[in-house]
Amino acid sequence: MTAFESMEASLREMEVSAKEQIEACNSPEALEEVRVEVLGRKGKLAQLSKNMGTLTHEQRGSVGKLLNQVKGVLETAFDAQNQRFATAVLQARLEREWVDLTLPSRGPRRGSLHPVTLIQTEIEDVFRSLGFTVLDGPEVETEYHNFDALNIPPHHPARDMQDTFWMTNGTLLRTHTSPVQVRGMKQLGPPLRMIAPGRVFRNEEVDASHEHTFYQLEGMMIDRDVSVAHLIYFMKTLLSEVFKRDVTVRLRPGYFPFVEPGFELDIQCLICGGSGCPVCKQSGWVELLPCGLVHPNVLRLSGINPEEWNGFAFGLGLTRLAMMRYGIDDIRHLLGGDLRFLRQF
Ligand code: DAH
Repeated sequence: MTAFESMEASLREMEVSAKEQIEACNSPEALEEVRVEVLGRKGKLAQLSKNMGTLTHEQRGSVGKLLNQVKGVLETAFDAQNQRFATAVLQARLEREWVDLTLPSRGPRRGSLHPVTLIQTEIEDVFRSLGFTVLDGPEVETEYHNFDALNIPPHHPARDMQDTFWMTNGTLLRTHTSPVQVRGMKQLGPPLRMIAPGRVFRNEEVDASHEHTFYQLEGMMIDRDVSVAHLIYFMKTLLSEVFKRDVTVRLRPGYFPFVEPGFELDIQCLICGGSGCPVCKQSGWVELLPCGLVHPNVLRLSGINPEEWNGFAFGLGLTRLAMMRYGIDDIRHLLGGDLRFLRQF
């Protein structure tokens, strides 16, 4: 066998064995190893081409051609095998990540209303059904609306009862919802029935029962010949709706500059029914709602003639009511923003 024939034979042989090797590979890594071994710079093909030096010029031409041919065939075989691996990887991934698009969705996650919002809307509904208008007022108030117009002149000791956050420009964060009474009287005129729920602020040390920010709901009714009996009727109706049962109430005298007479309305303790328990501090009664008949000065200051009109007003602690209704024992939960707390409502 001439050197030419032997080279040709080795090339053919190598082609066959390399193809077998390629097909036997079962991973891209193994295939790469074979590729280096066969087509690499120091691979089998390179080795064979080194022997070309012993050939004649013509023979070199035809061996070179053959060499290129074998190289082409093998490259195609490598590509095909690589393609097979890539397809297998893709197939495996598709199976792993298969999603059943026909399954029903879980739907968006629902939020829930804040306990104060829940009780506020409930009370608004009760009062709307009794002919009351729901009013809103600014949280940053003037001194006039928050104090003066409510018969609390400068240096009146009642100003110290409410620790006020003052703004540098002389306005303040309203300390109660009562200033909306003033705005309501001016806006609507007599006769009127209004409530005003909202956020109020006091410079308080925060603890389990005190917050610098809390919610009240103010109420006012102005008409002719309004009496304490009207006041009691509306308050009992309201509280029976809120607590879903008949409640027993009592009035004690209370002092607020904007009402005369002024009262503290208590309800018989809903936990013990009046026999005494820790919630009512053994008294059988829970203080719930300050109220009274609107002071003539307050009417006059808002342009209403007290000889002709009178009325009642009340200031319900919404935050406190929500705590009682839902058994919340720490006021800090309400503004704490903890979703574990909020999702319970
Ligand atoms: N504004 C009072 C406060 O926050 C509560 C209040 C008392 C409101 C008597 C009233 C009322 O309307 O008649 O302490």
